[in-house]
Amino acid sequence: MAHIDDAQQAPWKAAAVRGPTPPRLLGGLTWRGAALAGAFAVASGLAIAVRRRGSLLRQGRALPRFAPADRILAAASPAVLAGTPERRLYAGRDLTRAVTIEDLRATAHRRLPRFALEYLEGGAEDEATLAHNIAAWAQWCFAPRALIDVTQRDLSTELFGRRMAMPLVIAPTGLNELFWPHADRRLAEAAAAAGVPYAQSTMSNDPMAEVARVPGLRHWWQLYVFGREEIRNALIDRAHDVGCEALIVTTDAQTYGNREWETRNNADPKNLSWGTKIDALLHLRWLIAGLLLHGMLRFANVVDFVPKDRRRFFDSAMWIRSQMDHALSWDTVKRIRDRWPRRLIIKGLLTVEDVVRAAEIGADAVALSNHGGRQLDWAVAPVDVLPEARRAVSNRLALFVDGGIRRGSDIVKALALGADAVLVGRAVLYGVAAAGMPGAARALAILREEIDRDLALLGARSISELGPRFLARPH
Ligand SMILES: Cc1cc2nc3c(=O)[nH]c(=O)nc-3n(C[C@H](O)[C@H](O)[C@H](O)COP(=O)(O)O)c2cc1C
Repeated sequence: MAHIDDAQQAPWKAAAVRGPTPPRLLGGLTWRGAALAGAFAVASGLAIAVRRRGSLLRQGRALPRFAPADRILAAASPAVLAGTPERRLYAGRDLTRAVTIEDLRATAHRRLPRFALEYLEGGAEDEATLAHNIAAWAQWCFAPRALIDVTQRDLSTELFGRRMAMPLVIAPTGLNELFWPHADRRLAEAAAAAGVPYAQSTMSNDPMAEVARVPGLRHWWQLYVFGREEIRNALIDRAHDVGCEALIVTTDAQTYGNREWETRNNADPKNLSWGTKIDALLHLRWLIAGLLLHGMLRFANVVDFVPKDRRRFFDSAMWIRSQMDHALSWDTVKRIRDRWPRRLIIKGLLTVEDVVRAAEIGADAVALSNHGGRQLDWAVAPVDVLPEARRAVSNRLALFVDGGIRRGSDIVKALALGADAVLVGRAVLYGVAAAGMPGAARALAILREEIDRDLALLGARSISELGPRFLARPH
C-alpha cells in the first residue's frame, strides 16, 4: 500500500494514492492542471492590474474611474510602501481638521451621492485633459532664494484697479445647488469674507440679484451665449444693473463635452436608474438638506427665457443645451464688448493667437482654460500656454489661468509664470459640498495659508516679486 509520505516526497506518485489517472485535455494537460493554470492567469492579471493602477497613481494621473481621494494620495506618496504607513485623509465634519483641499474633497465624497460626485469630478471622454491639468503643475519646480528676510509678507494684489486679498477668483460653476442649498450665495459669502471675487455662472441656481446683495462682494457674471440675441442682451443688462464688476464670456462650451461617466452612471437627469435613486436615499444628510428641505433645483437666472412647457428642471437643462449658439464668433464677442461697458474677460482660450486677438478686440482679460477638462479631451493644459501668452501680450491685458489647482504651490507657480490671478473651480466646490459656506471659506483659507508659507519658503515677500526666476524645469 502506498504511504502518504510517498506523495509528499514524489508528487508524481500522488495519482497512485488518489486513484485512477484523471482525464486529459488536448496536448496532455489535465483538468486540474488547466484549473491551476487558469487560477495562475487570473492572479497574474490581477497583479498586473493592481501594479498598473499603482503606477497610474504614482504618476499623479486620474484614474479611469473614481477612487476615493485618500486612496489616490496614499498610493501616490513616495513615503508609502505597500500600504505602510497607513494613511487616511480626514473626511469628517470638523473643518479645523481638514488641512488640505484633499481632506475637503474626501468629506465631499462621503457626503454626496455618486451622480452628484460624478458631475463635480468628471471630465470628458478618457479624462486625459483632466489628468493633464493636474500633472502639468508638476512640470515646474521651485528654485528658492536663500537668506531673505521674509518676516513681512503681502499676498494682496491689484486687479482691474482694485486691491484684492490674494490673486484668486472663484471660477464660475453651474448647478452648485446640487452640492449644498444656496451654494452660489454661500460661495459668494466665502469669497467676500476672503476678499476675492466670485464669478457666478449663467447656469447658477441663486438669482443674480440675491448674490449681488452679499455685502462686500466683487461680483462677476459669466455668460453662456444661447438662444436669441435678446436673451444674451437681457442677461448682460441685468448683470450691469445689479452692479457686476466684470463679465466673463465662456467660449469653450458651445458644444456640450462628452462626459461618458455621467452617462454610464445613469447620471443623465432624464434617466435616473434605480441604483442612482437608492444611492441618493443612502446619502440622507445631502438629501434632507437639499431636495427635501429646499425643493427641486431650478436655473433661476435663465428659466424665464425657457418656453413655458419646458420649465421643469431637467427639461429646461436640455432645452438650454439645445440652444447653445454654435455660431458664436469673434464678431459676437465684439458686439458683447460694445454693449458691456465694464471689465470683459474671455474664458476658454488656449492658443497664443486667440489671446492676441482678444487683446485686439478690447478684452480686459483672458482666462486660459479648458473648462476643467470637461469639454475637449486631450486639450493642452492652460499653464502650458501661459508663459508664451504672457510674452505675446505683455501687459496689454490681464491673464488668468485655471485647471487642476489644488494647492497654494500651483497658484504660486501660475503667478511666477505670468498670471495675474487664478480661477479655482473644484477646490472650492469640495469645500462648499463638504460644509456649505464654512467649507468654502476653509478651502480659501487653506489655499491662502499655503501661498503664504510658500512665499516665505521661496524667499519672496510679496506676490509682485514672483517671476520665472523662482522656477526651474528639471526636464
Ligand atoms: C462642476 C463644474 C461646473 C462648471 N460650470 C461652469 C460654468 O457654468 N461656466 C463656466 O464658464 N465654467 C464652468 N466650469 C469650469 C470652471 O469655470 C473652471 O474652468 C474649472 O473648474 C477649472 O478647473 P478646476 O475645477 O480643476 O479648478 C465648471 C466646472 C465644474 C467643475
